[in-house]
Amino acid sequence: MPLDLEPVGEEFVARATGVDLARLLGEQDRQAIVAACDRYAVLVFPGQHLTPEELVRFGNAFGEVDTTLQKKLLNHVQNRLGMDTVTDISNVDAEGRVAGPDHWQTITTVGNRFWHSDGSYKDLPIRYSILNAVTAVEYGGETQYADLRAAYDSLDDVTRDLIADKVGVFWSHNTRDWLKIPDTEAERSAFPKARWPLVRTHPGSGRKVLWCDSKVWAIEGMPLPEGRALAHELIEHIGRREHVYSHKWQPGDLVMYDNRATVHRGRRFIHSERREMRRVETTDDVHSLGYA
Ligand SMILES: [Fe+2]
Repeated sequence: MPLDLEPVGEEFVARATGVDLARLLGEQDRQAIVAACDRYAVLVFPGQHLTPEELVRFGNAFGEVDTTLQKKLLNHVQNRLGMDTVTDISNVDAEGRVAGPDHWQTITTVGNRFWHSDGSYKDLPIRYSILNAVTAVEYGGETQYADLRAAYDSLDDVTRDLIADKVGVFWSHNTRDWLKIPDTEAERSAFPKARWPLVRTHPGSGRKVLWCDSKVWAIEGMPLPEGRALAHELIEHIGRREHVYSHKWQPGDLVMYDNRATVHRGRRFIHSERREMRRVETTDDVHSLGYA
């Protein structure tokens, strides 16, 4: 059975069925998934219970699986799955118990609650992220996605002119700094700050995107407070209800999203509930404007 798409909105998010992602992907299905990502940017595949190895194989069909974040930072916390290619997005400690709010594994995921595109702070960021839910919580824990193409289209003319040639300086630790997570200097400088235009063109669809998220530390050519305030305003604009899809997870849900066209954030949940997901990311091939 070929890929079947049921759009959630006209141009954003589709529910995808008909393909067993645990099996080796055929070229026709692979191309259909890329085309669907170009159009909708977020694909929800229900009922996909993949092993970590199957998840890596699925990711590899769409590019090189990224290991930099895992190796540079996350392995310092714990590596329960024992892989550099699969990230453990969970509140589970190394012994398999639910980790409390003061456990480092929990603390390190708090930054995910702010709007971001995966790897936006890198010179070579993430193209696709693939999240597979193992367990789901009853209260909260949704992942919300916002459409950066619709966010650009709905800017007012003055703001669109203001940001047309602006460059943002993206820093991996912007939110962690704000949250007062006590990282070491080595961790804070693991990724140098990357410079990106605030307006980019999505290659798959040709649509312009508003490229701004919680990692924006400064906007070049503007006083630091003015630039940071503008970034905050742009993020609020991106997060307007009409740009947002909220995904309530079920075990086996697999969501594939295009980071070049979306931002996302995880929502609060109750710490005693077990929230366990696995993530694979593929590397993009478009470089930033260089380091700040
Ligand atoms: Fe993320």
